[in-house]
Amino acid sequence: MSKKPFYITTPIYYPSGNPHIGHSYCTVATDAIARYKRMQGYDVMFLTGTDEHGQKIEQKAAEAGISPKEYVDRIVSVFRDLWKLLNISNDRFIRTTDAYHEKAVQKIFRALYEKGDIYKGKYEGMYCTPCESFWTETQLKDGKCPDCGRECKHAEEEAYFFRLSNYADRLLKLYEDQPDFIQPESRKNEMINFIKSGLEDLCVSRTSFTWGIPVDFDPKHVVYVWLDALTNYITAMGYGSDNDSDFQKYWPADVHFVGKEIVRFHTVIWPAMLMALDLPLPKQVYGHGWLLFGDGTKMSKSKGNVVDPYILCRRYGVDAIRYFLLREIPFGADGLFTNEALIGRINSDLANDLGNLLSRTTAMVNKYFGGSIPAERQSEPIDNELIDMAVSLRDRYEECMAGFQFSGALSEIWKLIARCNKYIDETMPWVLGKDEEQKPRLAAVLYCLCECLRIVSILISPFMPETAPLIQQQLGAEPDILTWDFANLFGLLPPDAQITKGDTLFPRIDVDKEIEALNNLLTAQKAGESGIPGIAQIGIEDFAKVELRVAEITACEPVKRAKKLLKLTLNDGFGLRTVASGIAQFYKPEDLVGRHVILVSNLKPATLCGVESQGMILAADCAGNDVRVIFVDDIPAGSKIR
Ligand code: ME8
Ligand code: MG
Repeated sequence: MSKKPFYITTPIYYPSGNPHIGHSYCTVATDAIARYKRMQGYDVMFLTGTDEHGQKIEQKAAEAGISPKEYVDRIVSVFRDLWKLLNISNDRFIRTTDAYHEKAVQKIFRALYEKGDIYKGKYEGMYCTPCESFWTETQLKDGKCPDCGRECKHAEEEAYFFRLSNYADRLLKLYEDQPDFIQPESRKNEMINFIKSGLEDLCVSRTSFTWGIPVDFDPKHVVYVWLDALTNYITAMGYGSDNDSDFQKYWPADVHFVGKEIVRFHTVIWPAMLMALDLPLPKQVYGHGWLLFGDGTKMSKSKGNVVDPYILCRRYGVDAIRYFLLREIPFGADGLFTNEALIGRINSDLANDLGNLLSRTTAMVNKYFGGSIPAERQSEPIDNELIDMAVSLRDRYEECMAGFQFSGALSEIWKLIARCNKYIDETMPWVLGKDEEQKPRLAAVLYCLCECLRIVSILISPFMPETAPLIQQQLGAEPDILTWDFANLFGLLPPDAQITKGDTLFPRIDVDKEIEALNNLLTAQKAGESGIPGIAQIGIEDFAKVELRVAEITACEPVKRAKKLLKLTLNDGFGLRTVASGIAQFYKPEDLVGRHVILVSNLKPATLCGVESQGMILAADCAGNDVRVIFVDDIPAGSKIR
C-alpha cells in the first residue's frame, strides 16, 4: 500500500534581516510535526523558504549599496545554514526569486485576470510624494503623512485589484463547514468579525517600485508581494509548471503553520485566491503565538536576553533549544522568552530528569550486571504501575500531537521520566545490589527503567533528533524496536542488549555564571553589528593582521591546466613573487602587464593547479557575475595600505 501523503508548511520568511529565534520557533515546530508524521509512516512533504520581493527589501538593499538579489542571496544563505544547524528536515526550500515560481505567479495572475477575478482599476488615496506612499484618510496623522509628517495630496494610480469582496459569503461558509480550518478557535472569531465588517477588493499590483514579479501583460506593474508569496505553497509543488505531479500528490496541504499576525492573509486572501482558481483549500491554518522578549514586545532584541539562535545552539546544544521552544510555551499562546527560563529548563528537565535517569540506569546496569540485564527477573506489583504508564504514554502523546500541543506532548513524556526517577527512589536498586539473592529483583527494576527509556527515546525523537539516538545507543537497542509501532509495547529490549554508560547528555549549567557570561556577550554584541547582515564586526587588531601592499604586474600568462587562472609575476617593492588569480575569464594577460594592484602579501602560499601562489590580489564581485580587479596605477609599487 502506498503511504498517505502529509503536506506541512512554514511561512516563507522575509530575508530582510538575519533569522532570529522567532523564525526558528515556527520552523522547529513544523519540523517536529514533519518528523512525527514520517515516524508514523506518512509520506511527508515539508516546505519552507523565503519571501524575497517587495519594497522593503528593495530599500534595504539600496541602503547596503548592493542589488536586491545580492542582498537576498546573502541572507537566504544564512537562513539555510541555520536550518541545517537546527536539524530542520525540510524536503524543499522555495525562494520567490526562483524562476519557476516567478513564471507560475505570472500565469496565475493572468488566469485570474482572464476570468475577471482580477481587474484593472484605480488606486485612490492620499499620496505622500517624497515617501512615494499612498495612505487612507484614517491612516493620516493630523492630516499629514504618518511617516514623514509632510503634506499629502489626493492622487490616483492605475492598479490591478482582486475581487476579494465577492468571496465574503463563501469564506464564512468555509469556516462553518470546516470548523478546524482556522486554529486555535479564538483566531477564527477574529476572522469572522473581520469579514463581517466588510471585505474590500484587494490591490494586487504596484507601480511605485520594481523589485517584484512583473505582470507579464502589463510590465510596469509588479505583483503585490502577498499574492506572490501565498502562491508559494502550490508553485513549490509544481502548480503552473509542466510537471505538477507533486501538486497532484500533496495538495491540498494538511496544515499551514503561521504566526498569528499573518492568519488573516492565510485564512481570507489565500482561500479566496484558491476559490478563484477553482483549487482545493488547505485543510487547516494554525496561527501560533509569539515569543515575547523581556519587555513584552514581539521581537525586541534589546532588554537583556541573548536571542541569537546561533549563539544559543552553540552554548546549549541544538536539542536543548528545540526542546525549550516547544516545551515552554503552549503553541497557540504567546509566551516570554528569557535566558533564565531556558537555563532553568535545561537544568531541571534535561540535565536532572532525563539526563540523570539515563546515566543512573546505565551506570547501575554496568555496575551490577556488567552491561546486560539477566533474563531471570522477578517482578512486583509496583512495576505494573510504571509499565501501564509507559505503554499508555503513546496514546496521550498522540492526542496532544494531533492538536499540535507540543508542550502537552512533552509534558506527558516528562511525567513518565519523573515517575521513573521516583521508582528508583522507591525500589532502591543500590540496596538490592548489595544482596546476591535480590539480583532477579534488581534485574527486573533495571529492565523496567531501560524499557521506559526506550519508549521515551522514540517519542522524543521528533523534538530531539540528536539526543534520541544517543539514548538508543546507550541502551544497545536495535532499530527494529525503535519504531512508532513499538512505542506502546513493553518488554522488547533483548537480554543480550549491550548497555553502556555514555557521555552526559546535558551538562548542568551554573546559572549565575552563565547569566553573567550572557550579559557580557550582550554588551559585546551591542557594539558588534557591522550593518551588513551575516557579517560580524572585527576589531582593528584583526584588520591589522592583513598586510596589504601595492604591487606592479610585471608579467602574466595563462595556466595550462586551469582555464580560470592567470599566473602573475608581481613586484611588491621588495622583489618579485608569483600569484595565481582566478580572473582569466575577465582579463587578457596583455591588459594586465604594467598595472598596479593591491596584494595581500602575508597570505600563506598555496599551490593552485601546479602554480605556487604567494599571496592574492584584490578584486570586486560586481553585478552579473562580473569580476573587476582593483587597479591603483598612480600609487607606487611597495606602498603599504592601511
Ligand atoms: O510574515 N515569535 O515573514 P516574516 C514567534 N513573508 N514567531 C515569530 C516571531 C516571534 N517573535 N517572529 C517571527 C512574513 N515569527 C511573510 C510570510 S507566508 C506566505 C509569507 C515567525 O519574516 C512566525 O511564524 O515576517 C511569523 O508568522 C513568521 O515568522 C513571519 O516571518
Ligand atoms: Mg513579520
